[in-house]
Amino acid sequence: MRSTEWFKKMSFYQIWIRSFKDGNNDGIGDLYGVFEKLPYIRSLGVDGIWFSPIYPSPNADFGYDISDYKNIHPDYGDLEQFKKVLNKAHELGLKVIMDLVINHTSDEHPWFIESRKGKDNPYSDYYIWRDKPNNWDSLFEGRAWEYDELRGQYYLHLFAKKQPDLNMDNPKVREEVKSILRFWLDLGVDGFREDVINFISKKEGLPNGLPFIPAVNGMPYYKDGPHIHEYMAEFRDVCMEYDCFQLGEGPMTTVRSALKYLTGPDRSLDMMFSFDHMMADCLYTEYIHRPFDLRKLKKAFTKWQNALNGKAWNALYLENHDHPRVISRYGDGRYGIFSHSVPKYWKESGKMLAASYIFQQGTPFIYQGQEIGMTNIRLNSIDDYMDISSKTNFNRYHLNDTFERRLRRIHLSSRDSSRTPVQWNAEKHAGFSENTPWFFVNKNYRTVNVESEENDPDSILNFYRKCLELRKKSKTLILGDYREYFPRDKHIYMYSRTCGCTSYLILCSFSRLPVPFHLPKTYAGKAGKLVLSNYPKDSRKEIPGFLRPYESRIYKYRVKPIPEENQ
Ligand code: GLC
Ligand code: CA
Repeated sequence: MRSTEWFKKMSFYQIWIRSFKDGNNDGIGDLYGVFEKLPYIRSLGVDGIWFSPIYPSPNADFGYDISDYKNIHPDYGDLEQFKKVLNKAHELGLKVIMDLVINHTSDEHPWFIESRKGKDNPYSDYYIWRDKPNNWDSLFEGRAWEYDELRGQYYLHLFAKKQPDLNMDNPKVREEVKSILRFWLDLGVDGFREDVINFISKKEGLPNGLPFIPAVNGMPYYKDGPHIHEYMAEFRDVCMEYDCFQLGEGPMTTVRSALKYLTGPDRSLDMMFSFDHMMADCLYTEYIHRPFDLRKLKKAFTKWQNALNGKAWNALYLENHDHPRVISRYGDGRYGIFSHSVPKYWKESGKMLAASYIFQQGTPFIYQGQEIGMTNIRLNSIDDYMDISSKTNFNRYHLNDTFERRLRRIHLSSRDSSRTPVQWNAEKHAGFSENTPWFFVNKNYRTVNVESEENDPDSILNFYRKCLELRKKSKTLILGDYREYFPRDKHIYMYSRTCGCTSYLILCSFSRLPVPFHLPKTYAGKAGKLVLSNYPKDSRKEIPGFLRPYESRIYKYRVKPIPEENQ
């Protein structure tokens, strides 16, 4: 049984194993590398690890196409090695959560191989087969239906062709999911991150979507589908037998639909990853890349903070394996792609971005390499990119555009930028492996790497440590109420966290020029203590009344907050 909501106090580190650390020097990250780096992960001050999929997979979508749910990909080790990692992580006080990908399997999963064989096969209804496809597009690869010669029918794939969607309406499939949950929980894992979980129930009859909305035309019929909460309740029942934590990924989810998973009698998840704040540069929503808009970002942050306060709990993140690096999007890297060096305010903006989200109400997630300020890569040819969605976007979006402009958009948006090997030191292959790594190492590894940042007290790495430590020690920063100030300011994000008479005020400048600021009434003229800042004490001089480029300050106050209407 679940004892407490332990996940509220925590922060997590996400591992995308292929690029984390190569322990046996074959060029591919693995569980031996993870084992070696567990003390490093612990040293960040996080309390848990989320593993992106480490199961056997043909890697059409790098692990998100699973061919065996109860095993480990031989590239990464085996179940014995996994148990060693799990035990060591637990010894160090780290929880471990696994990725649960049950919207689809790989087309090389034995269930699909059987299902293709015909309608009287026991696995026949494990997938969604039709004689006539509807008009849905897939999110990754053309139409959502692929004809299978052997079966003589079309199967549904919301993602790549090699990722056929499971038929969750089949009770046998749901039993399989429960057995997967039990398998990992019995081994001792602490929870799951549930991949595209709001897509698993499709509307009966699979109606046609609107014809003129490419890629997402079928979404109204598969997002938050008719039986989703019944199915989620079945999985929740299994999880509640254990001390298990459930985190859902909710692409395109709204506050309203997220609250249905997170609150009330149907509550089936402890937290949900939302996407609104990843749209502040329109990388995913529009064909034309628009400049980053801080007001959009602030609006998204504040919407989720206010809506969930007192009712549910936020999952906080700025990076993961599906997004390019955040310094390159929202930090100083947005003024150009620097794959040989780093942008001018790399350090300042990297640290400021940490403060912009870690102190919000919720559980912070840090993606591998984010803590050292890794930035986007720029590859010269589209053939060098590995990620299926980058390749599709290149072909889909700008057919009338020039080759250079299409490639530039990939430079800005590709998921591959977050999938380059982690930069451990300034030596060959950035210390990731002694052998040629499976994917390109970012050329800035001599500047951006763990070893050199360990030795610099003012590094991005050490700033992440300070932020996590400050959060962990403060009830106010964990549980306090959130309030945003000056939402219309185009350069500064300012928010507070308050609990009783203690308040923290967090100031974040998103500008590469000095910007004037003033404090909200509650704090103006009061003696606040500067508890953390991203500028070293005696470096560049302060300018009174201004924040320096990308400056971030965290003040602590003893105050009696005044009501919002008097601000
Ligand atoms: C999720 C994963 C992403 C994957 C997709 C399909 O969005 O995070 O990496 O490609 O689901 O499984
Ligand atoms: Ca290896």
